[in-house]
Amino acid sequence: MANVTVIGAQWGDEGKGKIVDWLASRADAVVRFQGGHNAGHTLVVGEQVYKLSLLPSGIVTGTLSIIGNGVVLDPWALKAEIEKLTAQGVEINADNFAIADNCPLILPLHRDLDGLREAAAGAGKIGTTGRGIGPAYEDKVGRRAIRVCDLAHLDALDAQLDRLCAHHDALRAGFGQPPVDRAALLAELREIAPYVLQFAQPVWKRLNAVRKAGARILFEGAQGVLLDVDHGTYPFVTSSNTVSGTAASGSGLGPSATGFVLGIVKAYTTRVGSGPFPTELADEVGQRLGERGHEFGTVTGRKRRCGWFDAVLTRQSCAISGVTGIALTKLDVLDGFDKVKICIGYRLNGKVLDYFPSHAADQANVEPIYEEMDGWQGTTAGARSWADLPAQAIKYIQRVQELIETPVALVSTSPEREDTILVRDPFVD
Ligand code: GDP
Ligand code: IMO
Ligand code: MG
Repeated sequence: MANVTVIGAQWGDEGKGKIVDWLASRADAVVRFQGGHNAGHTLVVGEQVYKLSLLPSGIVTGTLSIIGNGVVLDPWALKAEIEKLTAQGVEINADNFAIADNCPLILPLHRDLDGLREAAAGAGKIGTTGRGIGPAYEDKVGRRAIRVCDLAHLDALDAQLDRLCAHHDALRAGFGQPPVDRAALLAELREIAPYVLQFAQPVWKRLNAVRKAGARILFEGAQGVLLDVDHGTYPFVTSSNTVSGTAASGSGLGPSATGFVLGIVKAYTTRVGSGPFPTELADEVGQRLGERGHEFGTVTGRKRRCGWFDAVLTRQSCAISGVTGIALTKLDVLDGFDKVKICIGYRLNGKVLDYFPSHAADQANVEPIYEEMDGWQGTTAGARSWADLPAQAIKYIQRVQELIETPVALVSTSPEREDTILVRDPFVD
């Protein structure tokens, strides 16, 4: 197994960016396969902090970085992000960066619709990132999307724009909004087209060639399994499949290319946006986790909700995504707690459950059953070897892997790239 697929095993923000960056120097290509610029992946290398939303995290190490067909691409967000990273000294060019020419585009009308729906939903809102992700995926599946390859054929776009605008104008009218300004949209597309097209190609072909040459591919998931449109806390989810299987369909390689599935797991739990969260803590412990973990969204700056580690949810995510091993991140945030708790089951209507039920009301009503462990007084922050960890922290790691029925491959002990403990190498497994 030479390839590695990185996915989030909770509600996103598990530290995927840090782990992908750490692995990227040993990969020959890094591929994003779903989501869009709703993602926020943070990389810390010495004094430099890089925040990536759309670009694969491999770009910082100069590894060939590819945006696969499963991603929804906002061309203006792409340009802004490339400019920001270039200003930070990262080199991005048509040799080390490519975009699938069959990627659907996120247009300003998608962002409009995302905002209008959220505003209309009031307290029932999803709490989206407002980036137009959901509406763009709807148009892809509805066969109305404008795709990257269409940017090379803007003179022949009339019939497609008719279909797209007819759909959106009806929706906009329902919100009391004017129809899409078609001429302005076309003008904006004309202006951005050459910029995007310099990177566009059939990336499935390039990736298959990379694979045939025996090179290592690292797939970079966005969000997390609990935000998956099928398996997550529906309807409080994102609009793509975030599970490991999407790495194949979202890049143009078959499922056998997926390789070692590395689930990224935070040592506690966070969530940003609305929706059920059984172990959420509204008390000073939740506050302390948020402060110690700097739990504010990379994309929207929103405060993340915090709670104890939920072994039931994580075991379910690992099973659904076929996780081979996990990277346990942010262990250092638990340093100094007298006691730590792990959710090992739920109580619902007098019954004990060992899984997370599918119905939204049941998801909202389950009560966590906790197991309490002693915390550790020493520090794990910055540890780079197993021997540096306090005995009680090792006990916590061992209990986590036992409960989620999945072994630990990596442990992360700070935001910094090198503060990472390798237990089992995903590339040589
Ligand atoms: P992603 O979306 O999964 O890539 O995660 P984010 O970048 O949105 O959020 C993770 C945050 O935790 C970032 O600010 C990282 O720099 C930081 N981080 C990653 N690993 C660790 C760790 O082991 N310890 C601490 N304290 N912070 C970490
Ligand atoms: P990374 O890759 C955490 C959440 C939003 C909202 C729901 C739907 O950094 O882990 P969307 O804009 O996708 O329609 O919003 O999904 N969400 C994330 N939460 N991390 C992310 O990405 C997320 N991307 C989307 O907060 O609840
Ligand atoms: Mg994030």
